[in-house]
Amino acid sequence: MTDPHSSGSDEAVAEPQLEARGAPAQSSMPVGNATLASEAPATSALADPNDPSLVHPMRTLDLSCYFGSHKVVEGISLAFPANTVTALIGPSGCGKSTFLRSLNRMHELVPGARAEGTVLLHDQDVYGKDADPVAVRRAVGMVFQRPNPFPTKSIADNIWAGPKFNRVKGGKAERDDVVERTLRGAGLWDEVKNRLTAPAGGLSGGQQQRLCIARALAVEPDVLLMDEPCSALDPQSTLRIEDLIRELKDRVTVIIVTHNMQQAARVSDYTGVITIENEGEPGCLIETGLTRDVFGNPKHSRTEAYVTGRFG
Ligand SMILES: Nc1ncnc2c1ncn2[C@@H]1O[C@H](COP(=O)(O)OP(=O)(O)OP(=O)(O)O)[C@@H](O)[C@H]1O
Ligand SMILES: [Mg+2]
Repeated sequence: MTDPHSSGSDEAVAEPQLEARGAPAQSSMPVGNATLASEAPATSALADPNDPSLVHPMRTLDLSCYFGSHKVVEGISLAFPANTVTALIGPSGCGKSTFLRSLNRMHELVPGARAEGTVLLHDQDVYGKDADPVAVRRAVGMVFQRPNPFPTKSIADNIWAGPKFNRVKGGKAERDDVVERTLRGAGLWDEVKNRLTAPAGGLSGGQQQRLCIARALAVEPDVLLMDEPCSALDPQSTLRIEDLIRELKDRVTVIIVTHNMQQAARVSDYTGVITIENEGEPGCLIETGLTRDVFGNPKHSRTEAYVTGRFG
């Protein structure tokens, strides 16, 4: 079997930087035109993502994605260790969203779309013949680019929608408890506790996105997929969501697509780089590893070009 965190290219295999443990990671990491001088270390205590002593709630093996006969993603093998954040980066159109949506079987909701290969969720193949797509989507939540709360439903009902759909039984006390706990977990409680019955559409964009994160968390997923969750937000709301992402990994394994290189460097422990080699070809994983290495010491010239803003 292939190394589940490798891209199939020798030069793209990330080595663990054990000597970096405890070091002030990312203290002067160049990212594009910026230098992150004061970011908290996101990766200093991590070892190799393939370390067999780590738990991997999710991994893909040779995953390819199609729209009809058009293969847009080819042969991606990636392992996502528990309680970490993995950023997926790469130029527009390389298949990041498609790959992400194939992890919880949302990709196949587009007519003619399908995936080939394996996605393991706790060692069960989510594409196995007995797998239930609804159960997969419950365990693998998703947050999208634009906040998409149910705008006319109340803030509380947005949170309770998932547990209710999953037929969680519970009276008012349990409902109130889930709503409060979840909103607190998403850093939104203090801002909305006095307006829980107001329509969610009345919240600001940043609040709506935190509500959507809360809604996804209300069903206690194991993995949270985030597709450019801050791209529609102002800088302050973006930083709040980034803080939240760093907190969330205590509870959930996060996989985030972002075009914002500073964001990838700030929030993620690991990074995977997807690119298209030649026009018309599918997107492939060219490099993966600790974020500090992918940004600070890229092994692939296209990674370097991408993270420094010279390509893509
Ligand atoms: N519904 C669809 N039907 C057919 N092709 C699609 C569909 N959605 C996306 N594609 C194609 O699949 C490829 C990958 O698209 P995808 O949206 O996954 O890229 P991306 O890396 O997320 O891009 P961006 O960074 O711009 O969001 C593109 O060539 C795109 O045109
Ligand atoms: Mg996309």
